[in-house]
Amino acid sequence: MLHAHILGTGGYLPVRRVSNEDLSKIVDTSDEWITSRTGIKARHIAAQDEQTSDLAVKAAQAALADAGIDAADIDLIIVATSTPDMTFPATACIVQNKLGIAGCPAFDVQAVCAGFMYALATANAYIKSKMATKALVIGAETFSRLLDWSDRRTCVLFGDGAGAVILSASEQEGGILHTELRADGAYSHILQTPGKIVSGDIQDSPYLHMDGQAVYKFAVKALARIAQEVMDKSGLLPTDIDWIIPHQANLRIIESTARHLNVPMDKVIVTLAEQGNTSAASIPLALDQGIKSGRIQRGQTLLLEGIGGGFAWGAVTIKY
Ligand code: ACO
Repeated sequence: MLHAHILGTGGYLPVRRVSNEDLSKIVDTSDEWITSRTGIKARHIAAQDEQTSDLAVKAAQAALADAGIDAADIDLIIVATSTPDMTFPATACIVQNKLGIAGCPAFDVQAVCAGFMYALATANAYIKSKMATKALVIGAETFSRLLDWSDRRTCVLFGDGAGAVILSASEQEGGILHTELRADGAYSHILQTPGKIVSGDIQDSPYLHMDGQAVYKFAVKALARIAQEVMDKSGLLPTDIDWIIPHQANLRIIESTARHLNVPMDKVIVTLAEQGNTSAASIPLALDQGIKSGRIQRGQTLLLEGIGGGFAWGAVTIKY
């Protein structure tokens, strides 16, 4: 039986850092309001000539170096993104070309902030069914391009970035233990970017729209439930979890999930203060930061969880 083990991780944040103070100069907001409601202090914004694939490639190169393998060893590329470079081709194909490789399957998954959970679960299934041996799984976003920068209710929440993981097939026990995915399209209206290209025109709003309170209520319930389910199906108790690596949307949502699971906050990787919500990139960025900072150690048990527009949500347990 094959297991998908994490061989390496990488992350990339664009150079430009925008603080809450910077934002208070363009919209009617304050550091106090943003920090107390969300925990966010700053976010990074891609340069005008920087595409989602550029961020993804930088994260991928860091993950390849960390894993000690060449791009040519990769036989599957999955990019989780809701902000692709273009309508098509898939950003994964653009990433593949920029990495200087060709031939292996490369495709995007679109599950917004739950995208990395969907991508990881898909790569795990490929590895378990012997369709891949070394998978490059990336979450990459340029959400700054979807934001109405005059709307203080949304523009303060998000940032750009990319995180990447190399999964490797191995007979050795461990690696990804269990994956759980859910979706419910009945809630698509509470978080969406409805705009679409129709015969050369953009129809509906091209900006992100959100009912913040409805999202909050849905997210805390759904995450608590799925995190408990993935632990139960993995045969894990709260005391077995060394680290929770949550989607970084909002500190209050993160704290609520930890409380429901009876896991103390000092076992939760929190990166959102400096990054904001980077959608599909947030979980691999937090995983990478947890590993590179020396907090996450080999042999430890991890619980990853995320939720986003769709609504779509998921959780994954890993023996790292
Ligand atoms: N600065 C100052 N005031 C603001 C800001 C801001 N940036 N944004 C909204 N306000 C004002 C509103 O205009 C409103 O003022 P009013 O009463 O005069 O009309 C007041 O603050 C309260 O607005 P609410 O929307 O009710 O604020 P709330 O306390 O619900 O906080 C927040 C908003 C932080 C978005 C909260 O609802 C939340 O955390 N929701 C979860 C959303 C989330 O995390 N989304 C991420 C994407 S989904 C995902 O990744 C899971």
